[in-house]
Amino acid sequence: MKAVILPDYNQNLIRALVGMRIEEKPIPIPQKGEILIKIKAAPCNPSDIAFLRGGYNIRKTIPAIPGFEGAGEVTFVGPGAPNDLIGKLVSCFIQDDKQGTWSEYIVAKLDDCILLKEKMPIDQAACFTVNPFTAYGLFNLAKVKGSKAIIQNAAAGQVGKLIRVLAKQDKIKVINIVRKEEHLKELIAEGEKNILNSTDKNFASSLHLKARELEANLCFDAVGGEVTGTLINVMPPHSDLILYGGLSGQDLSNIDALGVIFDKKVIKGFNLMDWMNTLEEGEFEDISEYLQDLFIKGTLKTDIQESFKLIEVVKGIRAYIGNMSAGKILIKP
Ligand SMILES: NC(=O)c1ccc[n+]([C@@H]2O[C@H](COP(=O)([O-])OP(=O)(O)OC[C@H]3O[C@@H](n4cnc5c(N)ncnc54)[C@H](OP(=O)(O)O)[C@@H]3O)[C@@H](O)[C@H]2O)c1
Repeated sequence: MKAVILPDYNQNLIRALVGMRIEEKPIPIPQKGEILIKIKAAPCNPSDIAFLRGGYNIRKTIPAIPGFEGAGEVTFVGPGAPNDLIGKLVSCFIQDDKQGTWSEYIVAKLDDCILLKEKMPIDQAACFTVNPFTAYGLFNLAKVKGSKAIIQNAAAGQVGKLIRVLAKQDKIKVINIVRKEEHLKELIAEGEKNILNSTDKNFASSLHLKARELEANLCFDAVGGEVTGTLINVMPPHSDLILYGGLSGQDLSNIDALGVIFDKKVIKGFNLMDWMNTLEEGEFEDISEYLQDLFIKGTLKTDIQESFKLIEVVKGIRAYIGNMSAGKILIKP
Protein backbone atom coordinates (compact mmCIF):
# COMPACT_ATOMS: atom_id res chain seq x y z
CA MET A 1 0.00 0.00 0.00
CA LYS A 2 1.00 3.62 -0.34
CA ALA A 3 1.26 5.86 2.73
CA VAL A 4 2.32 9.42 3.53
CA ILE A 5 5.56 9.44 5.51
CA LEU A 6 6.68 12.19 7.86
CA PRO A 7 10.47 11.75 8.23
CA ASP A 8 10.78 14.16 11.14
CA TYR A 9 8.83 16.66 13.20
CA ASN A 10 9.59 20.29 12.59
CA GLN A 11 8.24 23.26 14.53
CA ASN A 12 8.41 25.10 11.20
CA LEU A 13 5.47 23.56 9.34
CA ILE A 14 6.80 24.41 5.89
CA ARG A 15 10.03 22.51 6.68
CA ALA A 16 8.02 19.56 8.02
CA LEU A 17 6.05 19.50 4.77
CA VAL A 18 9.15 19.67 2.58
CA GLY A 19 10.35 16.34 4.00
CA MET A 20 7.05 14.51 3.51
CA ARG A 21 6.96 11.73 0.92
CA ILE A 22 4.90 8.75 -0.25
CA GLU A 23 6.27 5.26 0.49
CA GLU A 24 5.24 1.69 -0.25
CA LYS A 25 4.42 -0.25 2.94
CA PRO A 26 3.09 -3.75 3.59
CA ILE A 27 -0.69 -3.83 4.10
CA PRO A 28 -1.18 -4.37 7.86
CA ILE A 29 -2.81 -7.64 8.99
CA PRO A 30 -5.68 -7.37 11.48
CA GLN A 31 -5.13 -9.27 14.73
CA LYS A 32 -7.74 -10.48 17.22
CA GLY A 33 -10.76 -8.14 17.30
CA GLU A 34 -9.31 -5.88 14.61
CA ILE A 35 -10.47 -4.95 11.11
CA LEU A 36 -8.67 -3.85 7.96
CA ILE A 37 -10.05 -0.62 6.50
CA LYS A 38 -9.45 0.64 2.98
CA ILE A 39 -9.36 4.39 3.57
CA LYS A 40 -11.66 6.39 1.31
CA ALA A 41 -11.14 9.83 2.85
CA ALA A 42 -9.17 11.36 5.72
CA PRO A 43 -9.16 15.02 6.79
CA CYS A 44 -6.43 17.34 7.97
CA ASN A 45 -7.36 18.85 11.34
CA PRO A 46 -5.57 21.39 13.57
CA SER A 47 -4.38 18.39 15.64
CA ASP A 48 -2.65 16.97 12.52
CA ILE A 49 -0.89 20.30 11.99
CA ALA A 50 0.24 20.31 15.64
CA PHE A 51 1.38 16.68 15.19
CA LEU A 52 3.51 17.48 12.11
CA ARG A 53 5.14 20.28 14.10
CA GLY A 54 5.89 17.91 17.00
CA GLY A 55 3.65 19.96 19.29
CA TYR A 56 0.77 17.55 19.84
CA ASN A 57 0.29 15.27 22.84
CA ILE A 58 0.77 12.26 20.53
CA ARG A 59 4.28 11.75 19.12
CA LYS A 60 4.70 8.69 16.94
CA THR A 61 8.05 7.01 16.35
CA ILE A 62 9.72 8.70 13.37
CA PRO A 63 9.38 8.11 10.42
CA ALA A 64 5.61 8.13 10.99
CA ILE A 65 2.37 7.96 9.03
CA PRO A 66 0.25 11.01 9.95
CA GLY A 67 -3.56 11.22 10.10
CA PHE A 68 -5.76 10.46 13.13
CA GLU A 69 -9.23 10.13 11.64
CA GLY A 70 -10.87 8.94 8.44
CA ALA A 71 -13.49 6.71 6.90
CA GLY A 72 -13.37 3.70 4.65
CA GLU A 73 -14.56 0.22 3.79
CA VAL A 74 -13.87 -2.88 5.86
CA THR A 75 -12.01 -5.29 3.56
CA PHE A 76 -10.82 -8.00 5.96
CA VAL A 77 -11.40 -8.95 9.60
CA GLY A 78 -9.14 -10.52 12.22
CA PRO A 79 -10.12 -13.45 14.47
CA GLY A 80 -13.11 -12.61 16.68
CA ALA A 81 -14.32 -9.69 14.52
CA PRO A 82 -17.64 -10.37 12.75
CA ASN A 83 -17.29 -11.45 9.10
CA ASP A 84 -20.39 -9.55 8.07
CA LEU A 85 -18.49 -6.29 8.63
CA ILE A 86 -16.70 -6.89 5.34
CA GLY A 87 -17.95 -4.39 2.79
CA LYS A 88 -19.37 -2.07 5.49
CA LEU A 89 -18.33 1.57 5.85
CA VAL A 90 -16.80 2.80 9.10
CA SER A 91 -15.35 5.99 10.55
CA CYS A 92 -12.22 5.49 12.59
CA PHE A 93 -9.99 7.36 15.01
CA ILE A 94 -6.49 5.92 15.41
CA GLN A 95 -3.54 7.17 17.43
CA ASP A 96 -1.48 4.00 16.81
CA ASP A 97 2.31 4.54 16.74
CA LYS A 98 2.90 2.67 13.48
CA GLN A 99 -0.17 3.72 11.51
CA GLY A 100 -2.03 6.80 10.27
CA THR A 101 -5.12 7.48 8.19
CA TRP A 102 -3.13 9.24 5.46
CA SER A 103 -2.55 5.87 3.83
CA GLU A 104 -4.40 3.36 1.69
CA TYR A 105 -5.11 0.88 4.48
CA ILE A 106 -5.26 0.90 8.24
CA VAL A 107 -5.93 -1.72 10.88
CA ALA A 108 -8.19 -0.69 13.74
CA LYS A 109 -9.71 -2.14 16.88
CA LEU A 110 -13.47 -2.40 16.61
CA ASP A 111 -13.74 -0.02 19.59
CA ASP A 112 -11.96 2.70 17.62
CA CYS A 113 -14.49 2.50 14.76
CA ILE A 114 -18.04 3.65 14.23
CA LEU A 115 -20.22 1.56 11.96
CA LEU A 116 -21.87 4.00 9.57
CA LYS A 117 -25.50 4.20 8.60
CA GLU A 118 -26.06 3.49 4.91
CA LYS A 119 -26.95 7.06 3.98
CA MET A 120 -24.04 8.70 5.79
CA PRO A 121 -22.06 10.62 3.11
CA ILE A 122 -18.46 9.38 3.05
CA ASP A 123 -16.90 12.87 3.13
CA GLN A 124 -18.90 13.69 6.26
CA ALA A 125 -18.02 10.29 7.71
CA ALA A 126 -14.30 11.07 7.26
CA CYS A 127 -14.68 13.98 9.71
CA PHE A 128 -17.17 12.30 12.03
CA THR A 129 -15.18 10.87 14.94
CA VAL A 130 -13.68 14.09 16.35
CA ASN A 131 -15.45 17.41 15.75
CA PRO A 132 -19.11 16.36 15.93
CA PHE A 133 -18.57 14.60 19.29
CA THR A 134 -16.50 17.55 20.52
CA ALA A 135 -19.27 19.98 19.60
CA TYR A 136 -21.84 17.70 21.23
CA GLY A 137 -19.76 17.27 24.41
CA LEU A 138 -19.05 20.98 24.71
CA PHE A 139 -22.62 21.97 24.00
CA ASN A 140 -23.84 19.52 26.62
CA LEU A 141 -21.94 21.61 29.19
CA ALA A 142 -24.18 24.56 28.28
CA LYS A 143 -27.25 22.42 28.91
CA VAL A 144 -25.88 21.17 32.25
CA LYS A 145 -25.06 24.74 33.33
CA GLY A 146 -28.48 25.96 32.14
CA SER A 147 -26.84 28.66 30.03
CA LYS A 148 -29.13 31.07 28.18
CA ALA A 149 -26.25 32.08 25.94
CA ILE A 150 -22.71 30.93 25.20
CA ILE A 151 -19.63 32.63 23.77
CA GLN A 152 -17.31 30.92 21.29
CA ASN A 153 -14.22 31.99 19.37
CA ALA A 154 -12.82 30.45 16.16
CA ALA A 155 -16.50 30.71 15.24
CA ALA A 156 -15.87 30.41 11.49
CA GLY A 157 -14.27 26.98 12.02
CA GLN A 158 -16.03 23.63 11.85
CA VAL A 159 -16.48 22.97 15.60
CA GLY A 160 -17.86 26.49 15.91
CA LYS A 161 -20.28 25.87 13.10
CA LEU A 162 -21.53 22.58 14.59
CA ILE A 163 -21.99 24.20 18.01
CA ARG A 164 -24.08 26.96 16.41
CA VAL A 165 -26.47 24.41 14.89
CA LEU A 166 -26.82 22.45 18.15
CA ALA A 167 -27.42 25.70 20.05
CA LYS A 168 -30.10 26.82 17.59
CA GLN A 169 -31.97 23.52 18.10
CA ASP A 170 -32.07 24.22 21.85
CA LYS A 171 -32.74 27.95 21.48
CA ILE A 172 -29.52 28.86 23.28
CA LYS A 173 -28.00 32.08 21.95
CA VAL A 174 -24.42 32.20 20.70
CA ILE A 175 -22.00 35.11 20.74
CA ASN A 176 -19.65 34.28 17.86
CA ILE A 177 -16.10 35.65 17.81
CA VAL A 178 -14.12 35.73 14.56
CA ARG A 179 -10.93 37.57 13.71
CA LYS A 180 -11.53 38.52 10.07
CA GLU A 181 -14.11 40.91 8.65
CA GLU A 182 -14.97 38.51 5.81
CA HIS A 183 -16.08 35.87 8.36
CA LEU A 184 -18.12 38.43 10.25
CA LYS A 185 -19.94 39.22 7.00
CA GLU A 186 -20.42 35.51 6.22
CA LEU A 187 -22.02 34.88 9.60
CA ILE A 188 -24.29 37.90 9.18
CA ALA A 189 -25.33 36.50 5.80
CA GLU A 190 -26.13 33.19 7.54
CA GLY A 191 -28.52 35.08 9.81
CA GLU A 192 -26.33 35.23 12.95
CA LYS A 193 -27.04 38.28 15.11
CA ASN A 194 -24.29 38.27 17.69
CA ILE A 195 -20.88 38.40 16.06
CA LEU A 196 -17.78 40.20 17.26
CA ASN A 197 -14.38 40.67 15.65
CA SER A 198 -11.57 40.06 18.16
CA THR A 199 -9.32 42.50 16.29
CA ASP A 200 -11.68 45.46 16.83
CA LYS A 201 -10.30 47.99 19.29
CA ASN A 202 -13.55 47.93 21.27
CA PHE A 203 -13.74 44.13 21.31
CA ALA A 204 -13.41 43.66 25.09
CA SER A 205 -16.01 46.31 25.96
CA SER A 206 -18.41 45.08 23.25
CA LEU A 207 -18.13 41.52 24.58
CA HIS A 208 -18.60 42.77 28.15
CA LEU A 209 -21.91 44.40 27.14
CA LYS A 210 -23.10 41.54 24.91
CA ALA A 211 -22.36 38.88 27.53
CA ARG A 212 -24.45 40.77 30.09
CA GLU A 213 -27.26 41.57 27.65
CA LEU A 214 -27.64 37.88 26.67
CA GLU A 215 -26.62 36.48 30.09
CA ALA A 216 -23.80 34.42 28.59
CA ASN A 217 -22.10 32.46 31.38
CA LEU A 218 -20.13 29.89 29.38
CA CYS A 219 -17.36 30.32 26.82
CA PHE A 220 -15.76 27.77 24.48
CA ASP A 221 -12.22 28.94 23.76
CA ALA A 222 -10.26 27.24 20.94
CA VAL A 223 -7.54 29.89 20.80
CA GLY A 224 -5.85 30.32 24.20
CA GLY A 225 -3.03 32.83 24.76
CA GLU A 226 -3.87 36.40 25.66
CA VAL A 227 -7.42 36.20 24.32
CA THR A 228 -8.35 33.74 27.10
CA GLY A 229 -7.63 36.51 29.59
CA THR A 230 -9.73 39.00 27.66
CA LEU A 231 -12.63 36.53 27.53
CA ILE A 232 -12.66 35.45 31.17
CA ASN A 233 -12.06 39.00 32.42
CA VAL A 234 -15.14 40.44 30.73
CA MET A 235 -17.51 37.55 31.42
CA PRO A 236 -20.10 37.96 34.21
CA PRO A 237 -19.50 36.46 37.67
CA HIS A 238 -20.01 32.67 37.94
CA SER A 239 -18.95 32.16 34.32
CA ASP A 240 -16.96 29.17 33.07
CA LEU A 241 -14.42 29.24 30.26
CA ILE A 242 -13.79 25.88 28.62
CA LEU A 243 -10.45 25.76 26.82
CA TYR A 244 -10.54 23.10 24.11
CA GLY A 245 -7.92 24.26 21.60
CA GLY A 246 -4.64 26.15 21.50
CA LEU A 247 -4.80 27.71 18.03
CA SER A 248 -2.77 30.77 19.13
CA GLY A 249 0.13 28.50 20.13
CA GLN A 250 0.58 30.74 23.19
CA ASP A 251 0.32 30.08 26.92
CA LEU A 252 -2.67 31.59 28.70
CA SER A 253 -2.05 35.13 29.89
CA ASN A 254 -3.68 38.41 30.85
CA ILE A 255 -6.03 36.73 33.35
CA ASP A 256 -7.42 38.94 36.11
CA ALA A 257 -6.65 36.78 39.14
CA LEU A 258 -8.92 38.69 41.51
CA GLY A 259 -11.81 38.36 39.05
CA VAL A 260 -11.37 34.59 38.98
CA ILE A 261 -11.23 34.44 42.77
CA PHE A 262 -13.95 36.86 43.80
CA ASP A 263 -16.30 36.55 40.81
CA LYS A 264 -16.11 32.75 41.09
CA LYS A 265 -15.06 32.19 37.51
CA VAL A 266 -13.69 28.87 36.32
CA ILE A 267 -11.18 28.02 33.56
CA LYS A 268 -11.26 24.36 32.63
CA GLY A 269 -9.89 22.16 29.84
CA PHE A 270 -11.92 19.85 27.60
CA ASN A 271 -10.45 16.81 25.90
CA LEU A 272 -12.67 14.62 23.73
CA MET A 273 -11.04 11.34 24.82
CA ASP A 274 -11.51 12.16 28.52
CA TRP A 275 -15.12 13.18 27.88
CA MET A 276 -15.78 9.90 26.07
CA ASN A 277 -14.47 8.00 29.10
CA THR A 278 -17.15 9.66 31.24
CA LEU A 279 -19.99 8.25 29.11
CA GLU A 280 -22.14 5.45 30.42
CA GLU A 281 -22.52 2.07 28.72
CA GLY A 282 -24.31 2.52 25.37
CA GLU A 283 -24.33 6.33 25.59
CA PHE A 284 -21.67 6.80 22.92
CA GLU A 285 -23.64 4.62 20.48
CA ASP A 286 -26.83 6.64 21.18
CA ILE A 287 -25.00 9.93 20.58
CA SER A 288 -23.44 8.51 17.41
CA GLU A 289 -26.90 7.49 16.09
CA TYR A 290 -28.29 10.93 16.93
CA LEU A 291 -25.41 12.78 15.26
CA GLN A 292 -25.37 10.54 12.17
CA ASP A 293 -29.08 11.20 11.68
CA LEU A 294 -28.40 14.95 11.81
CA PHE A 295 -25.64 14.56 9.20
CA ILE A 296 -27.85 12.41 6.97
CA LYS A 297 -30.63 15.03 7.17
CA GLY A 298 -28.08 17.73 6.38
CA THR A 299 -28.82 19.58 9.64
CA LEU A 300 -25.17 19.14 10.59
CA LYS A 301 -22.47 19.40 7.96
CA THR A 302 -18.70 19.73 7.89
CA ASP A 303 -17.58 22.07 5.13
CA ILE A 304 -15.06 20.45 2.78
CA GLN A 305 -13.03 22.88 0.69
CA GLU A 306 -11.28 20.36 -1.59
CA SER A 307 -10.11 16.77 -1.90
CA PHE A 308 -6.56 15.71 -2.77
CA LYS A 309 -4.88 12.46 -3.81
CA LEU A 310 -2.35 10.93 -1.43
CA ILE A 311 0.46 12.22 -3.61
CA GLU A 312 -0.95 15.77 -3.37
CA VAL A 313 -0.89 15.78 0.43
CA VAL A 314 1.44 18.78 0.74
CA LYS A 315 -0.67 20.81 -1.68
CA GLY A 316 -3.74 19.88 0.38
CA ILE A 317 -2.22 20.92 3.71
CA ARG A 318 -1.05 24.19 2.19
CA ALA A 319 -4.58 24.87 0.96
CA TYR A 320 -5.96 24.14 4.45
CA ILE A 321 -3.53 26.32 6.41
CA GLY A 322 -3.99 29.06 3.83
CA ASN A 323 -7.71 29.23 4.62
CA MET A 324 -8.81 27.12 7.58
CA SER A 325 -12.25 28.70 7.66
CA ALA A 326 -13.03 27.48 4.13
CA GLY A 327 -13.43 23.96 5.48
CA LYS A 328 -11.49 20.74 5.79
CA ILE A 329 -9.37 19.28 3.04
CA LEU A 330 -9.73 15.56 2.50
CA ILE A 331 -6.99 13.19 1.45
CA LYS A 332 -8.46 10.48 -0.76
CA PRO A 333 -6.00 7.65 -1.38
N1 LIG B 1 -10.13 19.35 22.88
C1 LIG B 1 -10.56 18.49 21.98
O1 LIG B 1 -10.85 17.33 22.29
C2 LIG B 1 -10.73 18.96 20.56
C3 LIG B 1 -11.45 18.19 19.65
C4 LIG B 1 -11.64 18.70 18.35
C5 LIG B 1 -11.09 19.93 17.98
N2 LIG B 1 -10.36 20.60 18.92
C6 LIG B 1 -9.78 21.91 18.61
O2 LIG B 1 -10.80 22.77 18.19
C7 LIG B 1 -10.22 23.82 17.46
C8 LIG B 1 -11.07 24.09 16.20
O3 LIG B 1 -11.00 22.94 15.36
P1 LIG B 1 -11.76 22.94 13.97
O4 LIG B 1 -11.64 21.59 13.39
O5 LIG B 1 -13.08 23.59 14.14
O6 LIG B 1 -10.82 23.91 13.13
P2 LIG B 1 -11.03 24.48 11.67
O7 LIG B 1 -12.33 24.07 11.10
O8 LIG B 1 -9.80 24.19 10.92
O9 LIG B 1 -11.11 26.05 11.90
C9 LIG B 1 -10.14 26.71 12.65
C10 LIG B 1 -10.68 28.11 12.88
O10 LIG B 1 -9.86 28.74 13.83
C11 LIG B 1 -9.50 30.02 13.35
N3 LIG B 1 -8.16 30.30 13.85
C12 LIG B 1 -7.01 29.68 13.51
N4 LIG B 1 -5.98 30.18 14.21
C13 LIG B 1 -6.50 31.14 15.00
C14 LIG B 1 -5.94 32.04 15.96
N5 LIG B 1 -4.63 32.05 16.24
N6 LIG B 1 -6.77 32.92 16.58
C15 LIG B 1 -8.09 32.92 16.31
N7 LIG B 1 -8.68 32.10 15.42
C16 LIG B 1 -7.89 31.22 14.78
C17 LIG B 1 -9.58 29.94 11.85
O11 LIG B 1 -9.96 31.21 11.38
P3 LIG B 1 -9.06 32.08 10.39
O12 LIG B 1 -9.69 31.89 9.03
O13 LIG B 1 -9.25 33.44 10.95
O14 LIG B 1 -7.66 31.55 10.46
C18 LIG B 1 -10.71 28.94 11.64
O15 LIG B 1 -11.97 29.57 11.57
C19 LIG B 1 -8.79 23.41 17.15
O16 LIG B 1 -7.94 24.04 18.08
C20 LIG B 1 -8.81 21.91 17.45
O17 LIG B 1 -7.55 21.41 17.78
C21 LIG B 1 -10.19 20.15 20.18
